[in-house]
Amino acid sequence: MNTSRSQDSALISHLPARERLIVALDLPDAARVRAFLPRLEGKCRWVKIGLELFIAAGPAIVEELVGSGYSVFLDLKLHDIPNTVAGAVRSASTLGASLLTVHASGGPQMLSAALEAAAAQPHAPKLLAVTVLTSMNAAQLTEIGVSREPGAQVEALARMALAAGMRGFVCSPEETARLREICGAETTLVIPGIRPAGAARGDQQRVATPADALRAGASSLVVGRPIVQAENPAEAAAKIMAEMDAALA
Ligand code: C5P
Repeated sequence: MNTSRSQDSALISHLPARERLIVALDLPDAARVRAFLPRLEGKCRWVKIGLELFIAAGPAIVEELVGSGYSVFLDLKLHDIPNTVAGAVRSASTLGASLLTVHASGGPQMLSAALEAAAAQPHAPKLLAVTVLTSMNAAQLTEIGVSREPGAQVEALARMALAAGMRGFVCSPEETARLREICGAETTLVIPGIRPAGAARGDQQRVATPADALRAGASSLVVGRPIVQAENPAEAAAKIMAEMDAALA
């Protein structure tokens, strides 16, 4: 699996639904993950590990899931001085994850350092830049000194990150079409905020259906609660993948 990791990401936009659906394991500990995964009945290949699970379960959970055959999106949203982020990327590169997030707002030097660190590792994950958190609105951006509207700030950060060499982003469904236009066909766009028709939004504001997100240019979709909290997670995942495959056909 390791040798094909960069291919995984580069070719992702040509792949069928099973390769493009990432289940967000927003669960508090490894025991809960081990209890949940059998309920997917082998339907999904990709899982996302966020800070909650990573802090509770440690790097071992990444290695465990990779060892079980999953491709892992490690969503650590790194944001620190270039030297520290480069070191974190090097450490993460030993775990077997396929995707890893950094904050675009760390700036071009931080992004370049992260990319250089990844390039020097034999099994580095593909780096994805997070632009503006979907929880931030215009008023909150103003509070941290950013006068642009969220959409314009996303675009500005994406252009800066592209110039620094980044070829992957996480963005909301609303920004997908615009980022696809700016980034071209080869950049990986991973999109959370996905809700099948009729599913509860939870705290997500800017949502799209799986089909709409793919049509807007998503490479991969991140889905958490609609699968993890479903009565039958395998069935929920299968339904989403059927909708994805229909949109891709
Ligand atoms: O449960 P739900 O499908 O809303 O989960 C979406 C996942 O994607 C969560 O793990 C959330 O942290 C993540 N995410 C997001 N918006 C972003 C980046 C990540 O919802 N901009």
